Amino acid sequence: MALGKMIPVSDTVIVGNELAYLKECVDTRWVSSLGPFVKKFEDSFAQYCGVKFASSVSNGTAALHAALLAAGIGKGDEVIVPDMTFVSTANAAVFCGAKPVFADVDRKSWNIGPEKIREKITPKTKAIIPVHLYGCPAEMDKINRIAKERSLFVLEDAAEAHGAEFKGKKCGSLSDASVFSFYGNKLITTGEGGMVLSNDRKFIEKVNILKDQGKSKTRKFYHDVLGYNFRFTNLQAAFGLAQLEGIDALLERKREIAKHYIDILSGTDGISFQEIPAGAKSAWWFFSIVLEKPFRPVAKVEAALKAKGIETRPFFTPLSELPFYKTREEFPASKFLGAHGLTLPSGASLKNDEIDFICNELKKTVGPS
Ligand SMILES: Cc1ncc(COP(=O)(O)O)c(C=O)c1O
Repeated sequence: MALGKMIPVSDTVIVGNELAYLKECVDTRWVSSLGPFVKKFEDSFAQYCGVKFASSVSNGTAALHAALLAAGIGKGDEVIVPDMTFVSTANAAVFCGAKPVFADVDRKSWNIGPEKIREKITPKTKAIIPVHLYGCPAEMDKINRIAKERSLFVLEDAAEAHGAEFKGKKCGSLSDASVFSFYGNKLITTGEGGMVLSNDRKFIEKVNILKDQGKSKTRKFYHDVLGYNFRFTNLQAAFGLAQLEGIDALLERKREIAKHYIDILSGTDGISFQEIPAGAKSAWWFFSIVLEKPFRPVAKVEAALKAKGIETRPFFTPLSELPFYKTREEFPASKFLGAHGLTLPSGASLKNDEIDFICNELKKTVGPS
């Protein structure tokens, strides 16, 4: 099959009302952080996730930062994060003056292992940030149990997990608070954007103050606390609201894509998939595989697929291997996944015949060379 252009790893699907809602912002001149779409989007997304309160922010990183600050995380505190995640998860702790403490991930689910968390708890530990990597829910029941025993704050990093579920509840509703990203490659996007969710009204009020320069509610041009400009705009919210109207269909397609890949690739020697924990439903944000055999170097497979017009992505570099987080400590699962993981195209507009083509090329490429 000859394909004229690259098949991208992800895409943005326009689902319907995006232009109409944006036009409304332009017509009414509500283009900045005030305007009716902001609250509508916050309320609708909170309702979708089954959480009471939401605060939209400029991106997922700002969401993590503001949420940790609102939880009172600061200097001298330790925050446990998985070693295999996007760098923001750990950076947010550093931005607050706290220390990110890395825990290895589970070799099969690729998510933070509850027992690995336990090993990392010290008297300084204040919070845990489990990440639902690539849309696969972390084992939140076990993680919450550990947190409860030790009075730790749990912040779900659901940046990649819109619509994922664990034991009948949506990701984002499973802990003290959660964050999402609406970056362009996410299931639904606002261009750039993020959200903090919690059932604790006071917590969300703190986020609202922190994201808006620490402004006093009673005195003009007075700032009660050191704040930030993490505000979200009416334009972003308008786009996001339209996207949210189509989330069920997007999610369904993502799950069909993953199933189609698994149906074709199952049994292929040397390829393994992310194992979804019992009771969980992945959002399959990114469909990814692990090349288990040493004769299948990821870079070579990536180059061969690129030559056929197929874009892929390696996994995140483990945090413990980044220059500013480097440590001598070993994280075997995260290290292996970082070196052997490969994300295949899985945008919601991907067609089944494109998946067939990708799998065919992949099978040709991953064999012994
Ligand atoms: C797990 C995780 N956390 C946080 C973020 C940060 O989100 P943003 O890029 O919107 O700042 C991302 C970004 O994709 C992510 O994958």
